[in-house]
Amino acid sequence: MTFESLQDLLQSHGQEGLLQFYSQLSSEEQDSLREQIESVDWDMLKLIQHRGKPVGKGKLEPLGALELPEIEKQRSSFTKAGLEAIQAGQIGAVLLAGGQGTRLGYDGPKGTVNIGLTKTLYIFQCLIHNLMEVVQQAGAWIHLFIMTSPKNHRDTVSFFEEHSFFGYSPEHVHFFKQEMAPSVDFGGKILLEGKGQLSLSPNGNGGWFSSMAKAGLLPFLHEKGIQWLNVFAVDNVLQRIADPCFIGATLSTGHVCGSKVVRKASPTERVGVLCLEDGKPSIVEYYEMTNDMIHLKNENGDLLYNFGVILNYLFRVDKLEEILGEKMPVHVVEKKIPYMDPQGNLIKPEAPNGFKFELLVLDMIHLMDNCLSFEVERCREFAPIKNREGVDSVESARKLLQENGVEL
Ligand code: UTP
Repeated sequence: MTFESLQDLLQSHGQEGLLQFYSQLSSEEQDSLREQIESVDWDMLKLIQHRGKPVGKGKLEPLGALELPEIEKQRSSFTKAGLEAIQAGQIGAVLLAGGQGTRLGYDGPKGTVNIGLTKTLYIFQCLIHNLMEVVQQAGAWIHLFIMTSPKNHRDTVSFFEEHSFFGYSPEHVHFFKQEMAPSVDFGGKILLEGKGQLSLSPNGNGGWFSSMAKAGLLPFLHEKGIQWLNVFAVDNVLQRIADPCFIGATLSTGHVCGSKVVRKASPTERVGVLCLEDGKPSIVEYYEMTNDMIHLKNENGDLLYNFGVILNYLFRVDKLEEILGEKMPVHVVEKKIPYMDPQGNLIKPEAPNGFKFELLVLDMIHLMDNCLSFEVERCREFAPIKNREGVDSVESARKLLQENGVEL
């Protein structure tokens, strides 16, 4: 593309500011900037015009859950079935670690944060420790796939290498990178993060399976006979990964996917709730429900929409392959985005200054035919680290870890 046609293209989208430093760039840098601009998805940028408008949901109905008392009754048979699937090599785990953790405000992969008090205990170490418990119980390694982003890939891989994978078998750990999308300011202008570099951010956690496919991992799944993938977030340090009971329950009840859920702390808790939408599983945000729905109760006095998701899902691989080409909704999310000002200074904003475009794993649930809603105890399995302080912070997670007997 010639410089003139590049200018025309940018003008037609109101993005000519991207060329403000063009004349200062070397010819390689100019080529690279041109390539970045050519790969921008202009239609996606238009989505900010619809931001905040309610997305039409279908007919919502409660889904309920396999609740703790029922799980207790069947714990040993579920666990046996889950362990057998693990021993047969049918289960893989996928750690979503491509996020930027902007709320935590830590420079570096979130998993490398040390949450120990009297000793070092990194978030990644905690997760590996949790997974190792299952490996030991099953007497079999579980392939662990770790999604990074181009921004944190090198740091993540070298961190695992430096710490000898925290005792995990390196042959069973596979890193793959997710894709990126441009970030814009509140007016929709693409931000620069260098004179010849668009501000690119990881495109959300919903692209994990297509990124696995692009990384060439699907033949590997088939070769190893991995039929199920347990996807989980980096920041819940209490979660059980490849939990045999959860796996066994999902498999033996004939579901194609499963989601761990916790009972809502209050009707208005800001959490995505697993329910049915037009007869198919779906996760609705609290702001997508009417006030009536939020407070609806059953005959036992329990909320009908009572089970919030904690980003720990089990998907059947053949069903993931079926939906591989399907379009998923793009979410426009307000974030703090570092950018280059017109004087060429890199600014790290203290408050949100623009939007990122993200696909979300929760939207994959609605593409599944059914989903087992599997209740877990919040105080034993949910300690997310999202914020610098207060709710869902290192401090709150430490307290929960200590309550569960983890030495810090
Ligand atoms: P969050 O929604 O908490 O996003 O991610 P985040 O980017 O880590 O943090 P904030 O919102 O900027 O503070 C939930 C999970 O999804 C992963 C995260 O690493 C975390 O495990 N994730 C998120 C990705 O893998 N890729 C992404 O693009 C976004």
